[in-house]
Amino acid sequence: MNNTELQNKKFSQDISTWYLSLGRDNLPWRKNISPYRIWISEIMLQQTQVKTVIPFFNNFIKTYPNIKSIASASEDDILALWTGLGFYRRAKNIYKTKEIIKNEFNNKFPKTFEQLLLLPGIGRSTAGAIMSIAYQESYPIMDANVKRVISRYKDIDVHNKGSIKKLWLLSEDLTPKKNIFEYTQGIMDLGATVCTPKSQNCSKCPINITCKGAFKDFQIENKVRKGRTKKKIYFTLAHSKESFLLFKKNENSFWESLWVPYNRDNCEKTNLFKKPAKKEVITINHLLSHMELEITIEIFDYKSPFKIESNLEHRWINKNQIHNYGLPKPIKTIIDNYVC
Ligand code: ADE
Repeated sequence: MNNTELQNKKFSQDISTWYLSLGRDNLPWRKNISPYRIWISEIMLQQTQVKTVIPFFNNFIKTYPNIKSIASASEDDILALWTGLGFYRRAKNIYKTKEIIKNEFNNKFPKTFEQLLLLPGIGRSTAGAIMSIAYQESYPIMDANVKRVISRYKDIDVHNKGSIKKLWLLSEDLTPKKNIFEYTQGIMDLGATVCTPKSQNCSKCPINITCKGAFKDFQIENKVRKGRTKKKIYFTLAHSKESFLLFKKNENSFWESLWVPYNRDNCEKTNLFKKPAKKEVITINHLLSHMELEITIEIFDYKSPFKIESNLEHRWINKNQIHNYGLPKPIKTIIDNYVC
């Protein structure tokens, strides 16, 4: 073994040892490990922080504990469990993937990296995480935490063109053949709890002796924050005593496939609604990671449901059934607080 190989080996050994004593072994997907549970957790964790994911993961697993139990779920069933988690395409990909597993894999979770890569929503890093955590086979990963740990460790400027390719090569070199389970989760935990974007805590880091970025000031990274774009959206929520009139958003649109009140921005003519018995208008602001929404909803109160002519998929949904539908979080909040 040459010097670099020896150093790489020590890197992974130190991270694995650190994980065994200081890693987050209480995370729910780290108990009763199965490929199915790891898949669901990795998809949820793709764009969302651990503390937000935990209740959603627990609720999802309570409803669908394994691949057999999710086999007959509809896309709406899965979207309903995703309400509030955001990035709803992930839920649609879970639906597509479980259909493929049912139809092409006899409802058995795929076992190879190559098979996983063909599934919707599973890229190289997610496939690597499933292989190394669920099957304990050595594959590199590259999520946001790992990217930060390795780029600081090897002093790679992540803003440079070509840096991601370099980082993947380094991740391959640093990923051990043995103790892959501890290493993979350890490097994720190190990035989440010690080598964080805001405050790298180098004195607590198991690899601070060989790290090229140790004790360096990374605050500069945090100064360049992109502003969120602002967007105004307008809805009309028709409801009666028992039900709401909701429309399913088109594919490839904002909040695709979720159920929302009538969206007045879409191009349909709107002589849709009769004069309501009562009318109220509310405006709320909602922050998304990349956008700031100002949502204005006029709430129309009717004595009873009525038929409307619209080529958009729509339904009067009983108030008791609303939890079975995927709704964007701010819409759910408005319904819970102003109408129910
Ligand atoms: N982020 C992505 N995957 C994760 C995991 N398995 N545990 C903790 N954080 C993660």
